[in-house]
Amino acid sequence: MTGTIPADRASAPARGRYDAVWRAAEPYLRSRKNDVHIPISFAYAERLLAVHPEADRDVVLLAIMLHDIGWHAFDMADIVEKGFGPGKMRSDIRVLHEKEGARLARKMLSLTNWPAMLVDAVASIIDGHDTRVQSRSLEDRLVRDADKLWRYTTTGVSVACDWFRKTPHQYADQVETEIAVIETEAARMMATEELARTRAALMLHLI
Ligand SMILES: [Fe+2]
Ligand SMILES: [Fe+2]
Repeated sequence: MTGTIPADRASAPARGRYDAVWRAAEPYLRSRKNDVHIPISFAYAERLLAVHPEADRDVVLLAIMLHDIGWHAFDMADIVEKGFGPGKMRSDIRVLHEKEGARLARKMLSLTNWPAMLVDAVASIIDGHDTRVQSRSLEDRLVRDADKLWRYTTTGVSVACDWFRKTPHQYADQVETEIAVIETEAARMMATEELARTRAALMLHLI
């Protein structure tokens, strides 16, 4: 879909072409630490795209940027209670954040003049990004992997361990078991390397 973008935007610096969408999304990123999760996962998506240049860059980067904006509609206590409790991946609140995210992403991308085909592709990845059993495309896989990769960073462990009411060490052990469900080999390697750095940084061999 990159070829369908107007020439003025296509010639913009690689990251700058998304600035208008970042600005439109900003108010919706101020919940559930999405203003930390999303930039970190966005950078992982860029790294995964370097390994998979055949993927549609705009679809992947806009989908990772907007995939969790639907959380803004929910109270943080509810998010922690229902979105991270037992049965978390199938809970209603998870489905609702996917639906609300897809709706808002459509609105935002249309307002920032992205082509209809791209808007459809991004919204269809967002709708079901947590609860869909199988990924549907390479772009879908890269978004799902970039979404997970932030959990392995020192920042991700530090933030998310509180959501799961675990110590950093307990949470690091949990996400280590989840490396197996990461879909691309490149992302599994990144997760393994990042978790080793996080274990060292947080001295998890001792505490
Ligand atoms: Fe999500
Ligand atoms: Fe996410």
